[in-house]
Amino acid sequence: MHMETVVDVYFLPQPIEGELCVIIDVLRATTSITTALHNGAHCVYPVESKEEAFKIKEDHPDYILAGEEDGLKISGFDLGNSPFEFSEKAVKDKNIILKTSNGTVAAKMVRCSEVLAASFLNLSAVLARIKRRRKANIVCSGTLGKISLEDCLLAGFIAKNLKYGNAQARIVSGYAEGINDIYKELLKSTHAQKLIKLGFEKDIKFASQIDITNTVPIMKNGNCFSTGIIDI
Ligand code: MLT
Repeated sequence: MHMETVVDVYFLPQPIEGELCVIIDVLRATTSITTALHNGAHCVYPVESKEEAFKIKEDHPDYILAGEEDGLKISGFDLGNSPFEFSEKAVKDKNIILKTSNGTVAAKMVRCSEVLAASFLNLSAVLARIKRRRKANIVCSGTLGKISLEDCLLAGFIAKNLKYGNAQARIVSGYAEGINDIYKELLKSTHAQKLIKLGFEKDIKFASQIDITNTVPIMKNGNCFSTGIIDI
């Protein structure tokens, strides 16, 4: 029997409860998590602070420390948060502890039993996974408490294929309907402009690619993101 999934969209992180939450941080956390798992990483552990990251590393010296503070690699970490750092050579079969300013905070804040990490890279695969459920909560990470254009755009690309729950789902779908050139639109966002100043323009181009992988990062019970390969 055909079942229509109802979607609620949240513009900023909040402790949403339910069976399914979908986290979005296009620039760059969820794009990087998707890339890491696509390239064979074993598990990505999102954390909220660098102190927490160093503490986990103490117990697991073989884990890779990755992430950013103000966009840049954290001193003492192995990798930053550019998706280009999560190459197969760097991450295959490795566990990664990831600390970012917004994306990993959102992933830890939600209270859903299953949490997916969505990006343009895995859009159709994420959508296929969402459609298995009656209800989905899409949670945009934003930037330090402010709504991000790029996260709302991807939320719209997902929500426009589902049944609207709250008003935000309808609003972001309307926004996405009018956009054909993802890269051009991403460039309009405040965070993209910051990343360009920091020398990461190629990350924005990378993040704008649609459906280059069927890998869906899935975190169960707030543990770590591991790979689900979705048949679409
Ligand atoms: C974040 O979580 O705020 C972002 O991923 C920051 C970034 O690395 O661009």
